[in-house]
Amino acid sequence: MSRKIWALIAGAALLSLQGVSTASVDAPPKELSKETKACVACHKKHNPGIVQQWGDSKHYGASVGCYECHAADASDVDAFIHEPKKVGEGKPISIIVSPKDCSNCHEKEVKEYTQSHHAQGGRILGSMDNLLAEVVEGNTAFTTAGTSGESAAVVNGCWQCHGTEVKVLKNEKGEVTGLDPATWPNTGIGRLNPDGSRGSCTACHSRHNFSVALARQPESCGKCHMGPDHPQYEIYIESKHGIAFRANVDKMNLDNPKWIAGEDYDAAPTCATCHMSATREQSVTHDVGLRISWTNRPAISVRPEISDAKMGLPGAKVKWDERRDNMKDVCSACHSEAFIDGFYVQYDGLIHLYNTKFAIPGLALYNAAKPLFKRQVKFANEIDFVWFEIWHHEGRRARHGASMQGPDWTHWHGTYEVGKHFYTEYVPLLEELIEANIHSKDADRKKVAEELKAMLDKVLSDEFVVNEETGEKSTGHKWFIGEMSDEEKAARKKEISDFKNRYQSVK
Ligand code: HEC
Ligand code: HEC
Ligand code: HEC
Ligand code: HEC
Ligand code: HEC
Ligand code: HEC
Ligand code: HEC
Ligand code: HEC
Repeated sequence: MSRKIWALIAGAALLSLQGVSTASVDAPPKELSKETKACVACHKKHNPGIVQQWGDSKHYGASVGCYECHAADASDVDAFIHEPKKVGEGKPISIIVSPKDCSNCHEKEVKEYTQSHHAQGGRILGSMDNLLAEVVEGNTAFTTAGTSGESAAVVNGCWQCHGTEVKVLKNEKGEVTGLDPATWPNTGIGRLNPDGSRGSCTACHSRHNFSVALARQPESCGKCHMGPDHPQYEIYIESKHGIAFRANVDKMNLDNPKWIAGEDYDAAPTCATCHMSATREQSVTHDVGLRISWTNRPAISVRPEISDAKMGLPGAKVKWDERRDNMKDVCSACHSEAFIDGFYVQYDGLIHLYNTKFAIPGLALYNAAKPLFKRQVKFANEIDFVWFEIWHHEGRRARHGASMQGPDWTHWHGTYEVGKHFYTEYVPLLEELIEANIHSKDADRKKVAEELKAMLDKVLSDEFVVNEETGEKSTGHKWFIGEMSDEEKAARKKEISDFKNRYQSVK
């Protein structure tokens, strides 16, 4: 497929550099093309909504029509000849308009997006969660013309957010007859497209308006960033920022082409403001990872450059502190430096608490206990679910809540649940495994159980080392075994009596 550049020069004069001559369109035409006019004339009857949505779009104003986006090269896997009498002979189209197609005119956005975690969102096959939807929740009964043995839970769940591998259906003559319904409709964020490109721009830029105003709304991220394991949308809604947004949505100037906090609006930030939009110093970025300094998806939070390196992304070279500075620059439109720094001190404190008190020892205990599980298959034991929910649901909620000012998610849906399940489910299940195996005749099992017991004892007595370099230990567990230090006990006692006195003195 040919690609290349067009650039908007001052006053919207267009410069188009043609690559190899092919059918796909490299630049907006001066007026509606005759091919587009044919599509419109006919589709107005069949799907008037599509034509109307497009008619209200910026693309319409720029003469970018149906053909300019849907045109394909004859060699594209998904190219087909459609209504040649009206559209013109030898002008194939495709149903999928991939990031590669958009890059004909929007090269910068596509490059940034392709380098981001979003474009990698389809790489979830084989992950632990995938086992859940494929096997635990699902079966292999879902079969279509192009796929067999899929799980309907994966098709309707995971894939709708993460993306499918889109399969093209062909007849015996090799002509395209459509897209396989197990794999499309789908606008998952990391969709694998027939042309080899990754992702879907329509994930946020709903067709056929492709409006930036819609993409700037928190709901457009909320389709995916919500629910028990990553409730960013719910957190935002309950935060001061979400409250201010709802109250002032008509002052947000969401339609403005230029959209800089502090210049074009000031009432509230949305997801886009903080993670993507331009600031007084930065331009818009379609790499949503460039402003975050922690990756809170794994069991133990890591720096984003480590997570990028794992996926072979260029972000591996962008260190966390540089990314944090990018985010602070966003906040600075509406907050002072000391306020922003104070926020990060609070947030880092929560990540440190979660990592050192629960995540590092919790993961070590899980790995040490594994050989003793009754069933050596993931998710076949209660303890698999208990540990999974501690880090994947509750631990993430606590971290995400703290990162975006949603205190209820940090505490009641977060650290409260982590603590409750760590002490009342996880530790008791580990103790059961120890008791059942420590007197085993099988020397290996006995040894594993002894080692597990030693590790658990260390954790519960605040002796478990979480950082070999500094010697730092996991602390805050001793209360559970009734061995809180005298000092801490005295401090707690004083707090309680101070609390009582405070309330007694209120008249
Ligand atoms: C003479 C009528 C006619 C013309 C001209 C025409 N189409 Fe269609 N097209 C149809 C009909 C009918 C359908 C099926 C619509 C339906 O199922 O509602 C269709 C389906 C499609 C589909 C969806 C295919 C699928 O399997 O989901 C796309 C994409 C499409 N047309 C794009 C275009 C584009 C782009 C043009 C111009 C280059 C165009 N059409 C010109 C009649 C036309
Ligand atoms: C800016 C690019 C762009 C323009 C302009 C455009 N489309 Fe699309 N169209 C898309 C994208 C993106 C999709 C989603 C396909 C996918 O999953 O990637 C799509 C999907 C479709 C579909 C199938 C999905 C559905 O909802 O039924 C039809 C039919 C279609 N377009 C027709 C048209 C027609 C007719 C026009 C002109 C009035 C048009 N398109 C203009 C980008 C465009
Ligand atoms: C043939 C060139 C061309 C193609 C292909 C194209 N666009 Fe555009 N797009 C434009 C032009 C030109 C504008 C500027 C219109 C304006 O500012 O008036 C634009 C504007 C936009 C905007 C800003 C809309 C707004 O409300 O300000 C978005 C978002 C967008 N395009 C997304 C896409 C996506 C996603 C695709 C692929 C599905 C795509 N475009 C394909 C030429 C194209
Ligand atoms: C509602 C949309 C949605 C559904 C459904 C969904 N996910 Fe996710 N998933 C996300 C989002 C959003 C993230 C990123 C969260 C974050 O950054 O905090 C994510 C993150 C992940 C990650 C971590 C990726 C990484 O780089 O660390 C894996 C693995 C994953 N999902 C697998 C799955 C599987 C498998 C399913 C089905 C069983 C599934 N997801 C269902 C939206 C979804
Ligand atoms: C995660 C959501 C998301 C995805 C996916 C996405 N965009 Fe955007 N896009 C946005 C937001 C939000 C804005 C508005 C930024 C701002 O505030 O100005 C935007 C703005 C744009 C603009 C307007 C120009 C600009 O820089 O402001 C274009 C063009 C565009 N996107 C193209 C694309 C293309 C092409 C793709 C696919 C590679 C894509 N977008 C994917 C969210 C997204
Ligand atoms: C269609 C689903 C979907 C939509 C819509 C979506 N995301 Fe995501 N997002 C994901 C998934 C899935 C991941 C995890 C990708 C991975 O690492 O595998 C993710 C990851 C992220 C990350 C972490 C990036 C990193 O480098 O670790 C940020 C930040 C993010 N999204 C912000 C946004 C914002 C802001 C919007 C809206 C403007 C948005 N997303 C819209 C699915 C989505
Ligand atoms: C006021 C700015 C702000 C707003 C508004 C905002 N975020 Fe965030 N977001 C942050 C900060 C700060 C972090 C933590 C960054 C860090 O780790 O340094 C973050 C982290 C994230 C992450 C990374 C989570 C992970 O697992 O690593 C995702 C995904 C995300 N936000 C999505 C969203 C979505 C979706 C919305 C809207 C519903 C949103 N954000 C609204 C500032 C914001
Ligand atoms: C467009 C302006 C804007 C931006 C940008 C912005 N905020 Fe805010 N922020 C607000 C408003 C408005 C409030 C509510 C003030 C109030 O309720 O008195 C607020 C409140 C807060 C609060 C107080 C929360 C509470 O519950 O009392 C914190 C903390 C905060 N913001 C942190 C940040 C951080 C960190 C960033 C950058 C990642 C940021 N904000 C970006 C406008 C903004």
